[in-house]
Amino acid sequence: MVPVQLTGPRLSIREFQHTPGDVDALHAVFGDTETARYLPFEPRDRETCADQIAIYLEEAQAEPRTVYRLAVTRHEDGEQAAPIGNAVLGVEGVRAAFVGYALRRDTWGQGYASEITRLLCDFGFGALGLHRLAARVDPANTASSRVLTKAGFQLEGRIRHDLHLRGAWHDALQYSLLEHEWTAAAG
Ligand SMILES: CC(C)(COP(=O)(O)OP(=O)(O)OC[C@H]1O[C@@H](n2cnc3c(N)ncnc32)[C@H](O)[C@@H]1OP(=O)(O)O)[C@@H](O)C(=O)NCCC(=O)NCCS
Repeated sequence: MVPVQLTGPRLSIREFQHTPGDVDALHAVFGDTETARYLPFEPRDRETCADQIAIYLEEAQAEPRTVYRLAVTRHEDGEQAAPIGNAVLGVEGVRAAFVGYALRRDTWGQGYASEITRLLCDFGFGALGLHRLAARVDPANTASSRVLTKAGFQLEGRIRHDLHLRGAWHDALQYSLLEHEWTAAAG
């Protein structure tokens, strides 16, 4: 499905564009050490972010499309708004996908990740017809665990040594939300 355009009360989610503005915006997120602290990769330089956007656009053309790495913008920033973060949905397995998100640090604490999660759930369970969404979170990332729990995701357990990064093994908490739970919560 291309292009994806999701609209919430304060945010829009759209395809990334290979423009200097989107590259700078992604770099403002992925280049920040504090933001990358709980992401499964080292902080990225601008060139790597540009390469990433090229990969996202390539992935978007796959048939069938399985990976949606999308840009998050705020309505208040206007029509040509630069992204303040990313939103990810990756299909894996039968009617199942993982979700993720990251926001520029100065935008944290305003409920944006919760709005992104709602939009990804609507998209996944709605347009894509998925049955299960999952997310993995560093156990120390309480903000992300809170976002998922508020959206109705349930903790499934702890994956030991899920990731080897920065010279150490990291555990992850795995959360999931099923179609009928989302439908019930949405009323
Ligand atoms: C995780 C992240 C996306 C959260 O975004 P956000 O827009 O600030 O999240 P929200 O405002 O929707 O909700 C955050 C919730 O966590 C709570 N929270 C934030 N920091 C917290 C902390 N250190 N301890 C406990 N709760 C915390 C907030 O109070 C809020 O809960 P509330 O609505 O009940 O008050 C953002 O911090 C981020 O981009 N972090 C870096 C990248 C990242 O970790 N991505 C997720 C990988 S799994």
